[in-house]
Amino acid sequence: MKAFNDLADFSNEEIRSLVELASRLDSNPEPEALKGKVLSLLFLSPSLRTLASFQAAMVRLGGGSFVISPDMSIHGLETRPGIVMDGVAAEHIREAVPVIASYGDAIGIRAFAERKDIASDMREKEFSSLIDLIDTPYINMESAMNHPCQNLADWKTMDDLGVPANGGKFVLSWAYHPRALPLAVPASTLHMAAKRGMDVTVLRPEGFELPEAIMQKAATAAETAGGSVTQTDQRSEAMEDAHIIYAKSWSSTRHYGDKINDQKLREQHLDWCVDEPWFANAKNDCRFMHCLPVRRGVVVADDILDGPRSVVIPEARNRMLAQMAVLHQMLGGQT
Ligand code: CP
Repeated sequence: MKAFNDLADFSNEEIRSLVELASRLDSNPEPEALKGKVLSLLFLSPSLRTLASFQAAMVRLGGGSFVISPDMSIHGLETRPGIVMDGVAAEHIREAVPVIASYGDAIGIRAFAERKDIASDMREKEFSSLIDLIDTPYINMESAMNHPCQNLADWKTMDDLGVPANGGKFVLSWAYHPRALPLAVPASTLHMAAKRGMDVTVLRPEGFELPEAIMQKAATAAETAGGSVTQTDQRSEAMEDAHIIYAKSWSSTRHYGDKINDQKLREQHLDWCVDEPWFANAKNDCRFMHCLPVRRGVVVADDILDGPRSVVIPEARNRMLAQMAVLHQMLGGQT
């Protein structure tokens, strides 16, 4: 495997094989599988889970890793192309990325969307410009529109729970958040659930519709896998017989890059905080998923997060296992 960038690059059989490998590495550890291998980790955006789980994954497989982020760079990192570097930053990303990559056998890169221009973010302009600087195998640790490690972990989490693929109902719901967040998780989660063959409903207020190209990509995946994709702003209709509600906030697509109008629109939806009444007509054992971090009392009520519906902790642990599977395949471990 040369790149782990988007679940769309893999067949369902290949994904199921990665999920099986993740489970196997959990029950039958291979502490020498990646002995002597090094993973470079470049975080241009913040993280807790991705940072910690990649480091833990490498240690568990017998390899090592190192982390670079602008916060720790003693030189200051410039990312703008074509800039005259007469300010604070003394190192440009164009040198930094290939140097960091040259120290490892693979590199993981996180670079969130700029969230100024949706067309540019949809093209993955920033992430692509970084990948163009290297020729080592790479892992997308979250870019403008993709978060494949989260998607693989979420697929595994639903398998672990016995949530049906075909016939399983998955609700991806917008939730209130005081800030305009990226589209990477909702876009890639929608695609993951559709690719798994589920009946997926995107529940969101008007003005927060996911881009047409994202909806179309998911619809195509669903068609191939025997699932479906719909969207609505009607909560009760969306939640009927749901197996999973996956909550996430995202930017208004009507006001993308326009902080003031995004803020005005999202503040009309303070009641989009998942609590028990949301589950009134869902399956009795409908579970709550979230990629974390999550704002308590804003995105979801404490009762849900602390109660039996929530699977956010095993979901987060699956990040480590899913990434172990990806690293095992990418860096030469036997499958
Ligand atoms: N879910 C996720 O990617 O978490 P972090 O942002 O903490 O890495």
